[in-house]
Amino acid sequence: MLALRADGWFFTRAYAKINLTLDVLGRRADGYHALASVMQTVSLADTLAFQALPDGQTEFFCDVPALNGTENLVYRGAQALRAATGCQRGVRIDLRKQTPMQGGLGGGSSDAASVLLALNAAWGLGLSQDRLLELAAGLGSDVPFFMLGGTTLVEGRGERVTPLPDLPGVWVVLLKPSVAVSTPAAFRALRPDDYTDGQVTARLVDAIRAGGALPLDGLVNALEERVCQVYPAVAESRATFAQAGASRVHMSGSGPTLFALFSSLAEAARVYRTLLSAGRQVWLARTVTRAEALGGVL
Ligand code: C5P
Repeated sequence: MLALRADGWFFTRAYAKINLTLDVLGRRADGYHALASVMQTVSLADTLAFQALPDGQTEFFCDVPALNGTENLVYRGAQALRAATGCQRGVRIDLRKQTPMQGGLGGGSSDAASVLLALNAAWGLGLSQDRLLELAAGLGSDVPFFMLGGTTLVEGRGERVTPLPDLPGVWVVLLKPSVAVSTPAAFRALRPDDYTDGQVTARLVDAIRAGGALPLDGLVNALEERVCQVYPAVAESRATFAQAGASRVHMSGSGPTLFALFSSLAEAARVYRTLLSAGRQVWLARTVTRAEALGGVL
């Protein structure tokens, strides 16, 4: 159990995610899209530091100046917990960013989930998992996933989360094309024939539950083709990634970050080094289990 003492402070790690599949089933009456996605935490992570302040005070600092301010999901996460419980405990939260912004890797959403989990424990609020998931969904569609982490089936607009068994660990090479893709714009660009029936996600879920070989050949992201059309830099990066030796390249979320999975570190490192020496923004990460993602207090 965390103890947030007047003189004490602690760190948490907020892991990024990739979408192993992303089926978009259709557009909902509320303007959001109905999704079916298997999401997976990976070892690229932001770091948060928590420190007690006198009651009523909230301070937030991020090392990326553009992300400072009360609009940040970290600040809003702390306020959401206060509004839900009446808790007046003061806190200072420092955020060290490592996960790129607007990358399709859920960085801001993961930071928010980290705040909900850490302060619920540190402030002794005792909110139930269901209540925390409600608060998470109120902060953003990807935040509920990060309350579970690991390998998780995500449905609805993102608020329905079902934990799956951890995948066998694999190496993940991530490449961020140098273009910003806005999530609303990526969803708006979809046409009805981009919608998928959820079968790819259902097949992957069945295979993960069965514990056998995973159908990694058939992963799909319904947003990918349209994003590649609208942003040629993404299509070009996908081709470069393939030329560097990755046989299957996928986009995460609404992009633009692309990823490839490897069971061999030698192979992953070769692709990573090729892309790095070509001047690409690239990371060599690995999958992160649920226990590791949720035990994120350092
Ligand atoms: O929930 P969040 O604010 O993160 O979503 C950002 C935007 O992404 C939404 O305003 C919407 O345009 C799009 N979105 C969507 N369907 C989802 C999730 C997000 O259309 N399931």
